[in-house]
Amino acid sequence: MTDRPIRLGIAGLGRAFTLMLPTFTADKRVTLAGATDLRREARRRFESDFQAPTYDTIEALCDDPNVEAVYVATPHQMHASHVVAAAERGKHVLVEKPIAIRIEECDAMIDAVRRAGVQLVIGHSHSFNAPVLHARKLIESGAFGAVRMIHALNFTDYMVRPRRPEEMDTAQGGGVIFSQGAHQIDIVRLLGGGLVRSVRAQCGNWDPSRPTEGAYSALLTFADDVFASCTYSGYAHFDSDEFMGFIGEMGLPKDRSRYGAMRKALREANNSAQESALKAARNYGGSAYVPPAGAPADRRHQHFGSIIVSCERADLRPTADGVMIYDDDEIRLDPVPVPAVPRAEVIDEFYDAVVHGRTPLHDGEWSRATLEVCLAILESSRTHSEIALRHQVGSRGALP
Ligand SMILES: NC(=O)c1ccc[n+]([C@@H]2O[C@H](COP(=O)([O-])OP(=O)(O)OC[C@H]3O[C@@H](n4cnc5c(N)ncnc54)[C@H](O)[C@@H]3O)[C@@H](O)[C@H]2O)c1
Repeated sequence: MTDRPIRLGIAGLGRAFTLMLPTFTADKRVTLAGATDLRREARRRFESDFQAPTYDTIEALCDDPNVEAVYVATPHQMHASHVVAAAERGKHVLVEKPIAIRIEECDAMIDAVRRAGVQLVIGHSHSFNAPVLHARKLIESGAFGAVRMIHALNFTDYMVRPRRPEEMDTAQGGGVIFSQGAHQIDIVRLLGGGLVRSVRAQCGNWDPSRPTEGAYSALLTFADDVFASCTYSGYAHFDSDEFMGFIGEMGLPKDRSRYGAMRKALREANNSAQESALKAARNYGGSAYVPPAGAPADRRHQHFGSIIVSCERADLRPTADGVMIYDDDEIRLDPVPVPAVPRAEVIDEFYDAVVHGRTPLHDGEWSRATLEVCLAILESSRTHSEIALRHQVGSRGALP
């Protein structure tokens, strides 16, 4: 077994990169070899932080022979063309969720990586979180019987955080279905076996100044009459991290004195240009960027809200500490160690795929199926009907 680092190029030095940076810098299986971004200040900072070159375009980044794989963290609507450009230049790709915004784009991405013989992993998404993977292993063990029903709920302030204009335009991948459904649906599919049969959903588009979907409730049916109810609100005043012991999405204790801080910050932006600038300022290289201060001692697992899997003989609940098991006789926590590097699970899967040639769990076909559910949520709400699905697959890659 070799433990050489993957020489990773970065396309998009924005919010997603800012969140992945502690992983990339702490995980010895990755070295940062180059980057591209439209923002000059982010590129200058990258060159000086990592002594690595930056480029004007993703094509130029991928033409660098020292770059072996690329992390595509550009806006959703660019994922397909950026992944195809990387694959055509022989680079393995880790692309942010959602894989893309249309099924045909996924088809083109899957074809391009297959033709090039490179690996494609879609992440980070919260279905990589170790407690979710552990819950899946508990289900596969058969100890609790078959899955009967899944509940997923998350209430956040997603819609009142500073955004780019496209993030408020459904046609360009805006709204919570693409950005947040990609997490929640991926988790629910992983726990339910992947093969969603149909979707009936209703979306909420409640704020005329931010005209895209900010909330949804969806009923997913799987084979054997298994069903899942998935609810997300990005307009919330209530914060469902309360149900997770006030541990936030990033696995850190929530500072409750910051209640309402995002709504307040957003009120200071008078137009969409100011709002985009507010977002960019907090990102890598921006004027309000704060470099990660190392891993705090009280860090727990990341999560995506409340998830309960009802099996024949127990309910299972992934938490920030492991999996709570409620069976016929007792309640207990099955603890899962917190990885030394945040989001190390993403590198586990990507490294295994790139260096050891293993089929990843979150490959193109898997993530196209998650996108299909997200698109069905939109269509069901628009047409007030139940939508049958055609692109569903079980997980082809083994659990790590
Ligand atoms: N997994 C997560 O936790 C997570 C969190 C945030 C975002 N994301 C995903 O990451 C992606 C980007 O979202 P974001 O919030 O980081 O956006 P962002 O606006 O913060 O960052 C996007 C970056 O891409 C750059 N960019 C735009 N066009 C480019 C191009 N043609 N070539 C090179 N760089 C370009 C921008 O300058 C910007 O720095 C989305 O798909 C989103 O869903 C994932």
